Amino acid sequence: MVAITFIAADGTDQPIDAEEGLSLMESAVGNGIEVIEAQCGGNAYCGTCRVYIDPAWRAVTGDVTEVEVAMIEVSGDMTPGVRLSCQITVTPSLEGLIVRTPMSQS
Ligand code: FES
Repeated sequence: MVAITFIAADGTDQPIDAEEGLSLMESAVGNGIEVIEAQCGGNAYCGTCRVYIDPAWRAVTGDVTEVEVAMIEVSGDMTPGVRLSCQITVTPSLEGLIVRTPMSQS
């Protein structure tokens, strides 16, 4: 298990134990992070699994991938560190990761 902390828009910490090999989205949904709607089930075409990667972790998680670019543009969310959590795979290197979640995904 990989310890990851989600921080809600109101500042509330939501620590989870994420299963290695799942996506960050699947881990969030499976652990009750309700703001991660993930309407498309992880196919990078709904934009409702957006998270904001803490600055200290962006080198580890990497930049927005080609698959994510269009959906993030459509969402209009220009928040620094924005990613689609369905496109991030949980690995041991993410131990201690901090991600923030939007107020809503709409
Ligand atoms: Fe739909 Fe990630 S779950 S874009």
